[in-house]
Amino acid sequence: MKVSEPPAREAAALHAKHVLTPWVAQGARNPPVVVRGEGSYLYDDRGKRYIDFSAGLVAVNLGHGHAAVAAAIGEQARTLAYAAPTFAHDRRAELARAIIELSPWSDGGRVFFTTGGGEANEDAMKFARVLTGRHKLLTAYRSFHGSAPGAGTLSGENRRWPNEPGIPGVVRFFAPFPYRSPFHTRDAGEELERAIDHLETVMNYEGAANVAALLIEPVVGSNGVILYPDGYLARVRELCDRHGILLIFDEVMTGFGRTGEAFAAQRFGVTPDMFTFAKGVTSAYVPLGGVAVREDLAQRFDRTPLPSGHTFSGHPVAMAAGVATLQAYREERVFERARDLEPQLSEGLNALQQRHRVIGEVRGVGAFFGIELVADRETRTPLVPWQGSSSLQPFFNDLLARGLYVLGRYNVAIVAPPLTISSEQLGEGFAILDAALGELQASP
Ligand SMILES: Cc1ncc(COP(=O)(O)O)c(C=O)c1O
Repeated sequence: MKVSEPPAREAAALHAKHVLTPWVAQGARNPPVVVRGEGSYLYDDRGKRYIDFSAGLVAVNLGHGHAAVAAAIGEQARTLAYAAPTFAHDRRAELARAIIELSPWSDGGRVFFTTGGGEANEDAMKFARVLTGRHKLLTAYRSFHGSAPGAGTLSGENRRWPNEPGIPGVVRFFAPFPYRSPFHTRDAGEELERAIDHLETVMNYEGAANVAALLIEPVVGSNGVILYPDGYLARVRELCDRHGILLIFDEVMTGFGRTGEAFAAQRFGVTPDMFTFAKGVTSAYVPLGGVAVREDLAQRFDRTPLPSGHTFSGHPVAMAAGVATLQAYREERVFERARDLEPQLSEGLNALQQRHRVIGEVRGVGAFFGIELVADRETRTPLVPWQGSSSLQPFFNDLLARGLYVLGRYNVAIVAPPLTISSEQLGEGFAILDAALGELQASP
């Protein structure tokens, strides 16, 4: 029987009736029904246009509707949609090579493919345990690494709580956050020193020899686009080296050009032993993630069986999408475009901060920015508390009504558009933000 496509309005009703939406209470929602995407724009069933100012969930780095990526997906689906991952496959080999060529490693490496970022972190954690024979894992508070029990436990925030008690062996530390210092500093240099002292103390109390890996987002993403003080990641690298702890970067948000380099590892000049990725690897056109492993570590799996597997590991359609996406990044110089966007985003958002006292801080790198909304600039009191029960959803809904989609969590708005966005489109987005922030400021 042919399944007929529901008319879009009907889709809204069917959505409300049958679809469970991630992370939100399901009642009283009325999201637009999106039907099409083109470049930096999304369109709904009424023809209304939205600028996608957060590239979906910081993922659609190429922009929507890229013809070559769509064609590669279709072509692969027709040629070979699936074969067991124990077969070799041309696109899988090609994509793994391309990712390793983009990696910070000069001595090569290998890639294990998953279907998303959380799953990649689950596998990276398992690899680290098998490779080191140690069981503890260090992760930061105010981090997100995925939703399923393992990656959820690795996460340092309230989306972890439904997983608790979670998996054993995960120990959390405070990473530096100059604007809201967990160490009560107001100076980035002092913040760095105290954060390193703290991390070293945690390692000592846990017994560094028990720690398999330290997993960290090189720029904190959905927990507020937090940049560490210069030198922090390098000092973390030193500590890990001193104690034989593997350093894993979660590059799920930062990977594939978001920071203006292929990976944040290059942007900050710090080389991890493994990194996980997802989102931008296919510009989100199909689900794909993975773990990249430094060659000398990967070689250990020549003798020891790899302790992970998934039906969809290296799915040919996802591989074809990845190969086409990486080719487009190269040919269209997309990572360079992210670097060009950095001053434009910084200037545009700082100009908004000048006009609106509700913006406490603008921070970011490449095309990855956050604005912190505060009730008081002096005290830095957040407009709604982080992980509190109140929400700025009316503000984000207002932006949407004005034609701008922005991903928000608590008092932080994440501005991370497709890396292909034009200056005019950025300007349009800033104008909408300006109007909505004015309303927000005026509201009691
Ligand atoms: C840094 C980071 N790691 C992991 C994940 C989880 O990825 P996924 O949703 O593909 O499982 C996310 C999702 O946003 C993320 O931002």
